[in-house]
Amino acid sequence: MTNPNLNTRIFEDITRNAIFAIAIFGKLDTECVYLNNIGFETLNLQPTDDPELMLHELFTKTERQDFISFKPAMLRTDGYYNDVMMSRPTGPMFVADLGIQNIKINDDEFTVLTFKDITLQKKMQRELTVKQDEIKKAFEEILEQNTQLKALDKSKDKFISLTTHELRTPLSAMIATSEVLALDLYDSEEQLKEFIQTIYKEGKHLLNIVNDILDFSKIQAGKMDFYIEEQNIKEKLADCAEIYEHMAEEKGIKIEISAEIDPPICYYDDLRITQVITNVMSNAIKFSSADSTVRIGVKPIEGFMQVSIADSGKGIPDEHADKIFNEFVTVGNINTHHKGTGLGMPISKKLMEGMGGAIHFKSKTDEGTTFFIDIPTEKILDDEVYRARPDFDEDFIAKSA
Ligand SMILES: Nc1ncnc2c1ncn2[C@@H]1O[C@H](COP(=O)(O)OP(=O)(O)OP(=O)(O)O)[C@@H](O)[C@H]1O
Ligand SMILES: [Mg+2]
Repeated sequence: MTNPNLNTRIFEDITRNAIFAIAIFGKLDTECVYLNNIGFETLNLQPTDDPELMLHELFTKTERQDFISFKPAMLRTDGYYNDVMMSRPTGPMFVADLGIQNIKINDDEFTVLTFKDITLQKKMQRELTVKQDEIKKAFEEILEQNTQLKALDKSKDKFISLTTHELRTPLSAMIATSEVLALDLYDSEEQLKEFIQTIYKEGKHLLNIVNDILDFSKIQAGKMDFYIEEQNIKEKLADCAEIYEHMAEEKGIKIEISAEIDPPICYYDDLRITQVITNVMSNAIKFSSADSTVRIGVKPIEGFMQVSIADSGKGIPDEHADKIFNEFVTVGNINTHHKGTGLGMPISKKLMEGMGGAIHFKSKTDEGTTFFIDIPTEKILDDEVYRARPDFDEDFIAKSA
């Protein structure tokens, strides 16, 4: 036998202590007729028998991205909604999972809302997503580093085997030629001179290769020392151009310098800037067609003196543009390089960065290339690099040999 009184009490008890809020409003006057314990708590209201709450107080006016606003239109049909922004009579808005049910008891109609404040969960979820994204990013970075390390390791092996091969070629030529000399196996004074010239040329080539390899490994290990002083770039350009005059003349190439700037002062390491400028100049001549002009200019730009070296040679195709400064690519093509290892550009880039400057270029296939070397006109690096190169510096001895 059922006991209606007992049933009512049971249901009342369950509703009052439910783990989600229950609010019942009159359909016509929209006044709250019932609010359970957690309902009072969620809406920041003091528990009383008469909640003094109107339905419109729970509607939201402000739109929030990612959330639905609780609006009167939602009451037309029964339903269940996730992530609904709801208002409180006093206090901040909150995000809720919301159920809507329209019921009729005898002749009276009611709107029953069941809801659960999930603001905290949402906040935690959002933080968790941010953290997850951070972890994902960190993981991807590690993967990327790992791939780079593998590539580095592979290219180091390749580098060693290719450079050793490169070293062997001039060395063998020198040994073979000196053997001829040692055994007096030459026919004339002229041939003797020729053999000595070969040994000298191959020796220089060998030195270039060794210098490139030493520089490269020093830079890679972060052990390259810079000795930066206030210098006159105009004189430097004239000196470097002089070195290449002969090579240019042989190809019928003219070198033109226009450096009418005053004062022509900037901060660089003399030995290192010479390396950069001569590499760019030798490339300009090497890749220029005969009877053309290599134009060298200087102009001050914000904080830098910009040296430009322009040729009208074969140009650098767009698809190779980002490979020029990449040591892993150049090393891979070592046998296509003329003077040394083909590390000229990667080394130049790192040297310029080490001096607080930059190197970049613009180029058009079959029209020519202009390299820009930006040298700081102010002291922008740590104080300790502004010093003179010591008299007995092994790098200097090797380079000037
Ligand atoms: N002025 C230029 N015109 C056309 N191509 C150029 C020019 N300068 C550089 N390059 C391209 O960039 C590559 C890399 O130049 P880099 O100076 O590093 O090596 P390299 O001149 O080939 O060898 P090395 O300098 O050791 O003799 C060259 O092989 C060439 O393909
Ligand atoms: Mg070069």
